[in-house]
Formats: sequence, structure tokens, C-alpha cells
Amino acid sequence: MKRLAFLGLAALCIAAVETAYDKTNFSSAGRVYQPVPTGHVVGKDNVPGAGLHHAGERCDNCHKKGGLAEAYLWTASGTLYADRAGTQVLPGGEIILQDREGNVISLTANAAGNFWTNAPIASNPYAVASHGGITEPLYEIGVDYLKPADPTDPRTWIYKAWVRNGTSIRPMVTIAPVGSATGNYMSCNMHHNPKGSRGALWVSPEPALPSYPARGLKYTKHIAPILNGKCVPCHIPGSTMTRLVTKSDLGTPSTSIDYSQGLDLINYRGSDTGGIVKRGVRSVVNTTNPEQSLMLQKTLPGAWHGGGAFWDQSSPDYLALKQWIAEGARNNLYSSSQRSLNLLLSD
Ligand code: HEC
Ligand code: HEC
Repeated sequence: MKRLAFLGLAALCIAAVETAYDKTNFSSAGRVYQPVPTGHVVGKDNVPGAGLHHAGERCDNCHKKGGLAEAYLWTASGTLYADRAGTQVLPGGEIILQDREGNVISLTANAAGNFWTNAPIASNPYAVASHGGITEPLYEIGVDYLKPADPTDPRTWIYKAWVRNGTSIRPMVTIAPVGSATGNYMSCNMHHNPKGSRGALWVSPEPALPSYPARGLKYTKHIAPILNGKCVPCHIPGSTMTRLVTKSDLGTPSTSIDYSQGLDLINYRGSDTGGIVKRGVRSVVNTTNPEQSLMLQKTLPGAWHGGGAFWDQSSPDYLALKQWIAEGARNNLYSSSQRSLNLLLSD
């Protein structure tokens, strides 16, 4: 906790300090602050083809053994958008994977937002899914995780992923496996699509709203759309623990992580869902020194943030948040009448 608080405050000053890639700890916790790989040729693993069809749908519904498109089995595929709601695709945006051997795979989205590759992804024979997809800690189940799984099982092919568009970078918190128990390869669109629980796979510095007033910002009208559009699905109420991924995630304590850091950004005052208590929006603002707000420091390029960088200091969303914080970071409702500000001022 102490370390995280320090990192939060010092995030911008220590941007040069980054954890190095380490194959011995290919786990959610071990990779949460891993910087996006650089120095590779962007799009080097694109595979030729039109691939303009079924944007947003699960590619693996057809691109699987015995499926309609059995001739084309992609190790990674999906659709990239400019927004989490998936209203706009993002041609040219980059999808980057790094496997346990350090191999970097780079894909670019085409005109339909689609990407796909058959580049091999290295095996981690200690991937939990390949030992039966167990979600309980090792000591409770008696499955022999010390014995490596078959490296030809696609569930041992796991990777850390990032999506990038200019300075906007979204690291995926979970380490994802390529395959399912049936041996078929999965698609990012399985979870990430406009209608999916996790929203579309997206990365863009585009503002959440077309414009913001210079003063008098309202939480409900201007701020909530930014936080709902960009900070979900990570900073939400309830359990947000990553699943167990590899042998190093097992044991006590588990290195599985809470990818909300106990912070709920869709509830101003935080939440208590089934006993899971989380701090709210109010806990990460600093009204006397708005730029020092953890909410702003964590989300700039170069900061150590499991969720990545969302904007820079001149972006409309950043400026709107900063202005609202400077105005007291109130839980104020929108009212079209200037005369009734309709403030909910219990905080
Ligand atoms: C409803 C079934 C279905 C879905 C869903 C589907 N595909 Fe396909 N796809 C096919 C079929 C069938 C072919 C083979 C066409 C052929 O043989 O000419 C194909 C071929 C392809 C090809 C190679 C041929 C070409 O178009 O150049 C690419 C690339 C491709 N699909 C990408 C994708 C991606 C990416 C997704 C997910 C966003 C996806 N497909 C989803 C059925 C599907
Ligand atoms: C992909 C998941 C993800 C998204 C999206 C995300 N975050 Fe995070 N965030 C994390 C993780 C993981 C941590 C814990 C590790 C860390 O401190 O970086 C975290 C930590 C934080 C913290 C520090 C909390 C504390 O008290 O220590 C703040 C503040 C924060 N995020 C703000 C934001 C804001 C604001 C947004 C949206 C603009 C956002 N995050 C989007 C994953 C995410």
C-alpha cells in the first residue's frame, strides 16, 4: 500500500523507472506495470487477406476446427474500436502481444477495425487453464501444477496484450490464453465487443463528449460520462480480481490482482457490494491542488497505471476533470437552469 501511494504521487517524476520483462513471473501481478514493448515493426504479424467481414463478432465462431473457416485458424483475432461502446472502429490502431519468451507480435487493425494473425505464441506449460481451468488456489485442489502441461495445448499459449493509438495505450490486465478446452483458438471479441460485458476493445485519446463548458462543470453531465466511458470495466463495484493464470499466481498469497485497486469510479462515494467495500471518485481528487489528484496523475503517459494512459495535459477530458476538481469536485447534478445548481452537497 505504501509503495502504491508513493508511486501514485511520484508517478510523473519517475516515468523513466519501469519494470523489466521477466519470464519467471508471467502473472497478472508480475506484469501489471510492464511497459508496452517498443522497437518492433508495427504490423509485422499481419497476415494478408481482406478480413472485412463480421467486425465485432467472435471470429472463433467460424475460424475453428470443424467451423466454416477451418482453413484459417488465427492465434489472435478481433476488432479494435475508438471507444468502449464500440460506435467507431479504429483502422490503423495497433494490437501488441508479448508471450512468455518475450516474443512480440504486432498487428494493425484494417478498415473494418479487424485484425488477425497466425503467428505462433510461446507456451507457458504452467498456465492454469491447461491444468483444468481451476479457479481455486493450488493447495485446495491437489492438481499437480508442478508438472508441466503439454506445450502443444493452446491453453498454455498465453500472452500479455496492449492496444495503442499514438500516446494512448491500454494494457490488458489479464494474461490471456490462446485456446479453449476444445483445442480451438479464441478471439478477443469473445469478451471484447460493443455488447460484451467488458465493452469493445478500444484505445483512443478522443474526448468522451464533443465539448465541455469552461466553467461550472457538472458531475452527472460532464464527469460521469468520462469515467463511465474510460475507466470501466476496471474501476467498478464488486469483485474485480483477475483469474489465476499461471503457477506463479497460485499459492498464498495469490499473485492474482484486484484490477480496481479498491477504487470504484462509477460511484462518487464508493460502494459496498456484497461486502466488497471500495472507495469512490471522491477519494482520488485533490481539490486544493487539482493536478496532484491521483485520478489525473495515474492516467497520463509515463505513469505507472495498470489501466494505461488516457490523455495528455491538453486533452479536453483531462482539462474537464481538472476544472471540475478545481471547482470542488462536487457530486452536482445537471440542471438546465443556471439559477438552480441543484447541488447534492453531503460530501
Ligand atoms: C460467420 C462466420 C465467420 C465469422 C464470424 C468470421 N469469419 Fe472470417 N471467414 C469466414 C469464412 C467462411 C472464410 C473463408 C472464406 C473463403 O474461403 O474464401 C473466412 C475467411 C477469413 C479471412 C481470409 C479471407 C479473406 O477475407 O481475405 C480473414 C482474414 C478472416 N476471415 C478474418 C476474420 C476475422 C478477423 C473475424 C472476426 C472479426 C472473422 N473472420 C469472423 C467466416 C467467418
Ligand atoms: C484496464 C483496466 C483499467 C482501466 C480501464 C483503468 N484503470 Fe485505473 N487502475 C487499474 C489497475 C490494475 C490499478 C492498480 C494498479 C495501479 O495502481 O496502477 C489501477 C489504479 C488506479 C488508481 C490508483 C488507485 C489507488 O488508490 O491507488 C487510480 C487513481 C486510477 N487507477 C484511475 C483510473 C482512471 C481515472 C481511469 C479512467 C480514465 C482508469 N483508472 C482506468 C486498471 C485500470
